[in-house]
Parts: sequence; C-alpha cells; structure tokens
Amino acid sequence: MKQFVVVLCAGGLLTGLIGYDTPASGQVAGDNAPVMLELPPGYRDWPLIAVAHEEGKLNDLRAILGNEIAIKAARAGTLPYPDGTIIARLAWDYHPLEESKEAFGNAQSFVAVTPKNGVQFMVKDARKYASTGGWGYIEFDDGKPSSKAMPSACFACHTTVKSRDFVFNRYAP
Ligand code: HEC
Repeated sequence: MKQFVVVLCAGGLLTGLIGYDTPASGQVAGDNAPVMLELPPGYRDWPLIAVAHEEGKLNDLRAILGNEIAIKAARAGTLPYPDGTIIARLAWDYHPLEESKEAFGNAQSFVAVTPKNGVQFMVKDARKYASTGGWGYIEFDDGKPSSKAMPSACFACHTTVKSRDFVFNRYAP
C-alpha cells in the first residue's frame, strides 16, 4: 500500500530508483537500504519497556519503548518477538536538576535534558531481514536516517544476545 521509493547510492557506483517494500517491482532492496525513511508516527508515546544508563563515550539516559506488538511480547517474555515488532531506543543528555539542591539539601537529582546519540529502532520481519537475525536496524539523527550507522554493525553487536532474539533489554516491571 504505502510505497517507499529509495534512492540508493552504493559507493558512487550504483544510483537508481528502487521500489522498496514492493516485491511486484521485481527488485530487491540492497542490504543497506534504510529500514524506514521516516520516524514511525507516534513512537514517542509508545509504552515503556525499560530504562537504561550508558556510561563511557555514550554517557546518556535512555528509554526503550515498544509498539503494541513489542510491549505485549516483552511483558509476556515471548521469544522470538513476532513480526511487526518495533523497539525504539531514545537517549538524552542528563544534568543535575537545579531545584534538587533546594529540595534535598544536595544536588542529587539528575534529569534528562536534550536528546543525544540518535534514536534507534529494531524492526522485526523474520523473512525480510533474515540475514540480520530477522531484525532491521536503523538510527535516526536529527529526524533523518543516519548514514554512518550501518545495520551490519548493529547486528554484529546485538548478536551477543542471540539467545534472547538479539534484544538486550528485558521488560522492567
Ligand atoms: C557495540 C554494541 C552495540 C552496537 C554497535 C549497537 N547496539 Fe544497540 N544496544 C546495545 C546494548 C548493550 C543495548 C542495551 C543497553 C541499552 O539499552 O543501551 C542496546 C539496545 C538497543 C535497543 C533496545 C533493544 C535492546 O536490544 O535492548 C535498540 C532498539 C538498539 N540497541 C538498536 C541499535 C541499532 C539500530 C544499532 C545500530 C545503528 C545498534 N543498536 C548498535 C549494544 C549495541
């Protein structure tokens, strides 16, 4: 129904129009074709699966959200996740909350402020993304698909948790 048209530039060698998501076109999207071209509508309001904190270079606070299919599976501990699952990873810079000093006597509250480290998604389609464990991976930077984060790198690291269908976070009750 919804037809995505992707301009694919592979190393400057190949530039062409490919009907993405439309097998009738007879063309297969390349491995590096973006999983989606726009942020999924309403993703910011999806239910919360878990929260996390990254130290090191990333140094952020993050929220793991899921669409209806994702949250149902995460709550039930269903593995593998069904087709149609989308899991989102949001992240923010964090700062001491000014008012916390007054409230607690110490500056002990840290709060999420500006978005950081892009927004990442894992999209489940066992057939379409068979070569990457059934998941399509994508990062958005400033609302646009990122060209620097290639799905192969995402998949390589997520293989660490192959036994949990490549998903690190568990549902936090
Ligand atoms: C070097 C390892 C590594 C790489 C590379 C990586 N991830 Fe992850 N990812 C993790 C870890 C560890 C977590 C769990 C901790 C957290 O939430 O930050 C995670 C969490 C996630 C989550 C939440 C679901 C889950 O598995 O818990 C999504 C969505 C995600 N990553 C997408 C991506 C995408 C898209 C890329 C590539 C653009 C990517 N990741 C690259 C290690 C990695």
